[in-house]
Amino acid sequence: MIVLGIETSCDETSAAIVRDGVYVLAHETVSSLKEHSAFGGIIPEIASRRQMEYIRPVVAASLQKARLTLKQINSIGVTSTPGLIGSLLVGLCFARGLARALQKPLREIDHIQAHLYANFLRRPGESSLVFPALPAVGLVVSGGHTSLFDVRNFQDIRLLGQTKDDAAGEAFDKVGRILGLGYPGGPLIDRLAKKGRNADIRFPQAVLKNSFDFSFSGVKTAVLYYVRKHQHEKSFSLPKVAYAFQESLVSTLVEKSLAACQSTGANTILVGGGVAANSVLRSRLVQEGQTQGITVHFPPLEFCLDNAAMIAGLSGCSL
Ligand code: KG4
Ligand code: ZN
Repeated sequence: MIVLGIETSCDETSAAIVRDGVYVLAHETVSSLKEHSAFGGIIPEIASRRQMEYIRPVVAASLQKARLTLKQINSIGVTSTPGLIGSLLVGLCFARGLARALQKPLREIDHIQAHLYANFLRRPGESSLVFPALPAVGLVVSGGHTSLFDVRNFQDIRLLGQTKDDAAGEAFDKVGRILGLGYPGGPLIDRLAKKGRNADIRFPQAVLKNSFDFSFSGVKTAVLYYVRKHQHEKSFSLPKVAYAFQESLVSTLVEKSLAACQSTGANTILVGGGVAANSVLRSRLVQEGQTQGITVHFPPLEFCLDNAAMIAGLSGCSL
């Protein structure tokens, strides 16, 4: 079973070929991210215009890399929600037209669930790797979403909680802007914080008792006020602020994910989304999970960020 996946939910135009819901034969992604950096966020009109230009060559390049022709594809999977409406429409219209012309089935895929499914993707030579055990708790942390799920299997996924305001990635990006680092802030803060380990600064964590919901706008505002108050002092250190912000945000993600395991009885955590690339989240969640007998899975870095391989994979999955 060979699936062509198409993903255009945000700034990226991505196509991938996945065999049997697992083996990634090819994946190609082009992003318009650089064009948005001057604005500190994605401009939807720029994103969708670029996607209209990129979609044909990106699909063609993925087929070429997999050494396949369109006729050899068994079905098509495409992101249908959530995302920027103009961007989603580019991928959806292209995929619908292609499926009709080729007379192949089309499956519309939820982008968030696909982020969790990214943990099951393999390279063709990696057949001996063990798949994550289900049921699991799913943590999706991206620029637009922060949600916890009870994943019984990929037909039965229940939302446990989500952010009430900023998504984790959005908080990273906004704090990146406050610190004058540029966009996207996540990877820049991750790097800078490595040089700022300290216990002098502590930013608050929103607890939201008896709930799996999150709130990150408070910590973002606390960083803003701290910077305004202290930025002209001699001891002011950007790496220290970045470190303290990251500690606050990551601690909340770790605590809520482990509490969700306690509540559902799952011994597995599946993490997905761009913030899953964060080095401190990766090490803290694995370490603290281990102490409670919980195995934590992160997708390889290339499949943490938005990509069509996770869309093609979930489209062809039998879990
Ligand atoms: O999943 P994704 O590619 O796009 C969305 O669907 O939103 O996630 C992008 C987000 C951005 O907010 C970016 O700052 C964040 O992921 N990100 C990170 C890291 N790498 C990317 N956040 C924290 N640490 C990182 N290393
Ligand atoms: Zn995403």
